Amino acid sequence: MKHITERWKVSDSEELYGIRYWGHRYFNVSEKGEVTVKLKQGDELVDVSMWQIVEGIQFRGLSLPVLLRFRDILDARIALLNESFAKAIAEYEYPGEFRGVYPVKVNQQAEVIKEIIHAGARYHHGLEAGSKAELIATLGFMHDPEALIICNGYKDQEFIDLALTGSKMGLKVVIVIERPGEIDLVLDRARALDATPSIGVRIKLTTRSDGHWTESGGDKSIFGLTPVQVMEVVELLRQRDMLQNLELLHYHQGSQIANIRNIRTALTEATRYYAELVREGARMGYLDIGGGLAVDYDGSKTNYVSSKNYSLEEFCMDVVEVVQSILGESDIPVPTIVSESGRATVAYSSVLLFNVLDVKCIEHEGVPENLSDDVHEYLHNLREVYDNLSIKNVQESFNDALHYRDELHGLFIHGNISLREKALAERLFWHIIREVNNTSKRLKYIPKDLADLDKVLCDIYYANFSIFQSLPDAWAVDQLFPIMPIHRLDEEPRANAVLADITCDSDGKITNFIDLKDVNTSIRLHDLKEDEDYVLGAFLVGAYQETLGDLHNLFGDTHIVNIRLDDSGAIQFEHEIEGDSVADVLSYVEFDPKELVTNFRNLAESAVRNNLITPSERKTAMERYQDGLRGYTYYEAEEGIPLHATLASPRNSVAPTGGSNGNGNGGNGNG
Ligand SMILES: Cc1ncc(COP(=O)(O)O)c(C=O)c1O
Repeated sequence: MKHITERWKVSDSEELYGIRYWGHRYFNVSEKGEVTVKLKQGDELVDVSMWQIVEGIQFRGLSLPVLLRFRDILDARIALLNESFAKAIAEYEYPGEFRGVYPVKVNQQAEVIKEIIHAGARYHHGLEAGSKAELIATLGFMHDPEALIICNGYKDQEFIDLALTGSKMGLKVVIVIERPGEIDLVLDRARALDATPSIGVRIKLTTRSDGHWTESGGDKSIFGLTPVQVMEVVELLRQRDMLQNLELLHYHQGSQIANIRNIRTALTEATRYYAELVREGARMGYLDIGGGLAVDYDGSKTNYVSSKNYSLEEFCMDVVEVVQSILGESDIPVPTIVSESGRATVAYSSVLLFNVLDVKCIEHEGVPENLSDDVHEYLHNLREVYDNLSIKNVQESFNDALHYRDELHGLFIHGNISLREKALAERLFWHIIREVNNTSKRLKYIPKDLADLDKVLCDIYYANFSIFQSLPDAWAVDQLFPIMPIHRLDEEPRANAVLADITCDSDGKITNFIDLKDVNTSIRLHDLKEDEDYVLGAFLVGAYQETLGDLHNLFGDTHIVNIRLDDSGAIQFEHEIEGDSVADVLSYVEFDPKELVTNFRNLAESAVRNNLITPSERKTAMERYQDGLRGYTYYEAEEGIPLHATLASPRNSVAPTGGSNGNGNGGNGNG
């Protein structure tokens, strides 16, 4: 923490939360200490305050949590990918082209797909469908005959028929063979429908990569064909005189490939396959490198799973260079390079905003003042430890505090001290530990057990969201997302905190946070103010999170708002999608809201008959029940009152406005 005399600056927050490393300049911090997002106003890019966006959303009657989507960022990502490949192609004088396709599975929301098609039109950016439903959505909107529609995944007859119908109607639909048996079905259906199929093969690479999602690549991958199976497909096509229909080679290493070396190695292997298929007489033309282009979630620019040790521009250069270097010298024409980049296309464009409901501090109330003479002498000893603690005896004070706490616990177990004394001991103990932690920071060398105290001294910030619904990868695979307050960044955050969501599940928490060198086990946050919401943002959540989320504890979809600016710079809240109501989520699990109301009415009527409630109380009870069914599944605030002000118990750390501003007197017992 900063020394009291040094004033906390906005740049300190930028460093602390790493926004300048992961924000990619899409997200910055303003002089006022608010996170800003770069949006387009006409041809200009301007920084728009997220706090202002929150105010606008609340003014429109929506409560947090809200998922914000920024279509300007999505457009910028599509342009960056296509233009970076174009630059690499020009740089290496590569005599071929690039075609991007967006994998629908990464974010299937209609608004996202439509925006990608719109922004990608000038690059003929296509779509990848991994299932029948995704292909049906694709065929509904993607009508550019120059854009690719790649069909991956396991396919039944209906899927294949739809793909072939798309081809017959002039679209460039490529059916990728993922399983050995699929080729027979494709050829049979093509004959039956009198269609000319464009066929691709997905290969199982021997090269394995590191990372969370790399099981979809390598020898053990469940997808793709082995070299033996690829040759079987080639032979079958040769027998049917259809090698001209084999046009594309596809592989997918897995998502979030953090190390550029893995990308180069896999591509080298795939390019060799490509060359061999041409030599076998296949028409070819497309080399589809799948997904894997990573996002630097922690900003460390390393090959750590949450990061990547290359830039997007470098990725494009390397891809073009590898293909060129392998095929350039041969007589084999270079392919159109196809990338199915999903995560890197959509991750930046969504931000989840949620408010804090309450804070549970590790130590409660102030230090007990005068201990009465009749309490146990060990309590007096603890008090002495607290009073005499200094930089010279910090380790000894720590040891003594542990000793007396253990002793007092033993006394309590054997009935020798009261619960009141036990509570007093806990209060004193935690104040000592907090002081030990603060004081030890001034030591030149901090002993290991004192260095770890930060992890122990975490406050719990209860946040109004469900990790299972909104950040499922944080729960399922410990994926790190950058999280930070979107305001008050000109104030020093004094609490070390972890986040708990509002599901009643012990996994419903976030205890790992980004760090440039390591993974942090806590995040520094501000004390709550009485009259203002405290709003945090989880950034870079546009990829995979929305559809993977589930209804744990029946917390449903959050509200979604698309944000952009009009020509005058006013914020436009477009395509507001209301999140699930309680009735919605109940009907997902087969409850009939009408039946629920009828049953509750019967209960209320019988309560009136039995004189338990009055008829007018019955009316209120029914209104309450029906309002509840219509309501948001998350905590909702009364107009103008921050949620934590209605929920927090008085002893928790709601500081008066301005109380924590840089002078160390916040309500969290830091001094
Ligand atoms: C076949 C295929 N292509 C593309 C992708 C998208 O990968 P990424 O999000 O890493 O770009 C995936 C995702 O797992 C995939 O399975």
